Amino acid sequence: MDSKELLRCQQIAVSLAIKVGQMMTNASGESRNISQKDSFADLVTETDKAVEKFLFDELKRHFPDFKFIGEESSSRVGLTSEPTWIIDPIDGTMNFVHTFPFTCVSIGLTVDKIAVLGVVFSPFLSKLYTAMKGCGAYCNGRPISVSKNCNSLKEALLVCEFGNQRDEEKRNAVFRNLESVGWLCHGIRCMGSAALNLCYVAEGFADAYWEFGLHVWDMAAAAVVLTEAGGVAVDTKGGPLDLTNRRIIGACNQSIADQLGNTLPIHLELERD
Ligand code: IPD
Ligand code: CA
Repeated sequence: MDSKELLRCQQIAVSLAIKVGQMMTNASGESRNISQKDSFADLVTETDKAVEKFLFDELKRHFPDFKFIGEESSSRVGLTSEPTWIIDPIDGTMNFVHTFPFTCVSIGLTVDKIAVLGVVFSPFLSKLYTAMKGCGAYCNGRPISVSKNCNSLKEALLVCEFGNQRDEEKRNAVFRNLESVGWLCHGIRCMGSAALNLCYVAEGFADAYWEFGLHVWDMAAAAVVLTEAGGVAVDTKGGPLDLTNRRIIGACNQSIADQLGNTLPIHLELERD
């Protein structure tokens, strides 16, 4: 895909994300017909579904030949090499349900299974993150960069998540990992949106983030924001990020990513997307 087409993709994705922001703020705090998915902590609201339908309809109109993956409508992810829009209509649905403002819409584009464009918009935080491969990362139009002076885990502010799963294997993994890392760093925060966590590392507010159990729509868009801000997005065991492998370390630099990955005692192997 040439840079002119990528720019057109970004312009359309940004204008749609802003419209979604309005849908989210209009629906916030209202009764939203909430249902459970894989666990009592894995929720979907009518706003998630309405946003996904809106984005699919609009993007299909502009890009009829592209493929589409969305959290609420793709039973099989089946990521291919074709240009693919990857949508999380609301990342941080649990926060949205509780009106905790750390929630966003996430729109990514992959080509050859690599994320090349990311738009992440949080209407409640008034933050619009944008990035295209090779062109830098921006928040509200201003360039952003990862933190530059963090070289050891001991001086890092980290982010992780409990996630939505409630099975025993996941619960044990989360707590063993937390216990192993928690006392070795400056602090740990759990705020409830994978995409915004990655964007916060991109903006230099935190130094690294890890999670197991994510899906491609949680990571695709924000991974571009992070790498374009000078950070790294990798597999927890090291090596390049595989968007379908359900796990990620996003960090301000490779050394912090390696230190974190080497300190985590449990690297969950989950069924791939
Ligand atoms: C979830 C959020 C949460 C993370 C979960 C994700 P959703 O996405 O990103 O922070 O811990 O793993 O599933 O369900 O709100 O789109
Ligand atoms: Ca979601």
